[in-house]
Parts: sequence; C-alpha cells; structure tokens
Amino acid sequence: MLIAPSILSANFGKLHEEVQAICNAGCDLVHIDVMDGHFVPNLTIGPVVVSAAAKASSKPLDIHLMVQNNTFFTELFAPLKPKYLSFHIEEEKHPHRLIQKIKSCGISPAIVLNPHTSPKSIEYILEELDMVLLMSVNPGFGGQSFIPSTLKKIEILRKMIDSAGLKTLIEVDGGVTDKNIHSLKNAGTDIVVAGNYIFGSSSYKNAIDSLRV
Ligand code: DX5
Ligand code: ZN
Repeated sequence: MLIAPSILSANFGKLHEEVQAICNAGCDLVHIDVMDGHFVPNLTIGPVVVSAAAKASSKPLDIHLMVQNNTFFTELFAPLKPKYLSFHIEEEKHPHRLIQKIKSCGISPAIVLNPHTSPKSIEYILEELDMVLLMSVNPGFGGQSFIPSTLKKIEILRKMIDSAGLKTLIEVDGGVTDKNIHSLKNAGTDIVVAGNYIFGSSSYKNAIDSLRV
C-alpha cells in the first residue's frame, strides 16, 4: 500500500516543517487538496502555497482538484510538476481532452469519482488514466467518516482494470484509518490518502507504518 498524507489536516502555520515531517516519516506522495468554494463548499490553497509545500517536499505531489474550471486550474498547477493531477468527472464535460492536456504537460492524469458516481462512467476512458481516485467521503472537508459502500466500488473498479489488462492505480480518499486499511487492501486499493489519521497522531511515522499493509 502506498501512503499519501493529505496536508489539509496539517498545521498551516508551520507548513514547511509539516511537509518535511511526513516525508521523513516515509510517505510516498504528498496529497494536496485544491478547493474553489464552488464545486465544494470549502476554499483551500492556490499555487503560491502549493509551491511552498513543493519546495519542502522530497516526495512527489498528488494534486486533487475539487474545482469547477478544471482547465484553468490545470494550467495554474501544471508548472509545479506534480506526479498526479486529478479532476472530478462530475465537473468535466470533456474529460478525454483534459486528460490529453495533462499528459502533454508530462503529468500523470487521474479522474476522481464522488461517492455516488459509478465506475461505469469512466469505462471508455480508463485506458487513458494512470490512476482513479475514489472518494470515500463527500469532498470538501477532512475528518469525515468512511462511507462503507466504497469497498464495493473498489472491487468493481479493480475487476474492470484487471480484466482490461491495465496498470491503472486505485487511490482511495477520505476517512482512512488503521481500522479500515485491511478491507481497503483486500478490495484492491493501491494508494490511500489520509489526513486526520496521520496529522492527528502523535507519531507521523507510526501512523504511516500502521497503514503500510
Ligand atoms: C476531502 C479531501 C481529503 C481529505 C481527507 O475532500 O479530498 O483528501 O483531506 O481527509 P481525512 O483523511 O481526514 O478524511
Ligand atoms: Zn483529496
């Protein structure tokens, strides 16, 4: 299991140290939640702050867009060269076109599905994706409870990916803890995002290690 701590739950008063701490604690990616106050009822950070986080990070960035204008935000964040840039299928009329744009910037494209969105919605675009991010909470806030029906969706998506012979990774975001990590692994998850669980713990290393199943 790969681990991507979400800095949404970090102490932004000492963001540089927080990002260094999770990297030193052995995370694989640094997950950045970009919210525009329109697609989700919350507002987070722009390229100035993400650039500061990137400078502190020794690990690749995993940028999760929760915005209305995906093309605008892709152009804004592409210069920061994240490893992954993910956008919500619910908010994109031309996902195939946007995927090509992300790839042309040398970034791995990913699509995010909200809890109500079926994996079937990306059946004909799956082969274009390096990763699919399944939301296991409603996007917008950290510290929410895991929605159990996500497990069924992971299994369905895992079958779709394997039967097509693809290497697309499955990432799960929201309410991840040491209590559900084994079920997530068994269902076929490759990467977990964890905010509150890691940043709310007294040892980031112990928290990350407890998710390494
Ligand atoms: C929610 C964000 C998540 C969030 C996860 O919209 O996409 O990345 O930070 O936080 P936890 O792990 O606390 O549920
Ligand atoms: Zn996220």
